[in-house]
Amino acid sequence: MKAEFILSAVHPDQFPDTGLPEIAFLGRSNVGKSSLLNALAGLKGLARVSSTPGRTQAINFFRIEGAPGGKSAGGFACCFADLPGYGFAKVPMALKRSWRALADAYLERDAPGMSCLLVDARRGWMESDLELKDWLDASNRQYVVIATKYDKLNQKERHQVLKDLRGQGAEPVPFSAVTGQGVRELWQTISTTISQ
Ligand code: GTP
Ligand code: MG
Repeated sequence: MKAEFILSAVHPDQFPDTGLPEIAFLGRSNVGKSSLLNALAGLKGLARVSSTPGRTQAINFFRIEGAPGGKSAGGFACCFADLPGYGFAKVPMALKRSWRALADAYLERDAPGMSCLLVDARRGWMESDLELKDWLDASNRQYVVIATKYDKLNQKERHQVLKDLRGQGAEPVPFSAVTGQGVRELWQTISTTISQ
């Protein structure tokens, strides 16, 4: 698999027109979007992972090529879009609004592809997640719900969170960037969805 950074957009005018199906990664600040993207691409340092919530302030675009999970290139290409996280209280209001405007513009563009809605498995649905889910349900965009940081939960908590996520009509993919759980399943979902 080959992965390369395309550009970082802070304004809708800068969104690249790659002609490729786009996979958007959406979720609260610190939920693990960049880590998941790196795990999928099989490259640790592709998207910047940070311990400071709210670090990704632009939409970062990456070109991904090759057989999902495999070593060979060719046969498959898509574009990953790492969106800014939402819902982090310590960010100034003005910044929050500009992030929101950027994410809205991106989603309204409705490029071919799908979205990945990441939910922290330790918290389950939060209000801001549900708002985004409602938006996705009302749009034509296909999406998959992912329960991140699954490695941090014990058996009982795992059972609970899956029940909570399913309660909103989603079939979540349990995911851990630490153990790699869910990588193969997610690639399977992505390649099936975008080749439809
Ligand atoms: P923003 O870009 O700030 O919105 O954050 P993000 O959603 O991209 O999260 P990021 O991938 O930067 O991860 C945030 C923190 O969670 C980092 O400290 C990661 O190491 C940690 N983290 C991410 N995924 C996992 C996971 O699957 N398991 C565990 N244990 N930690 C994780
Ligand atoms: Mg990030």
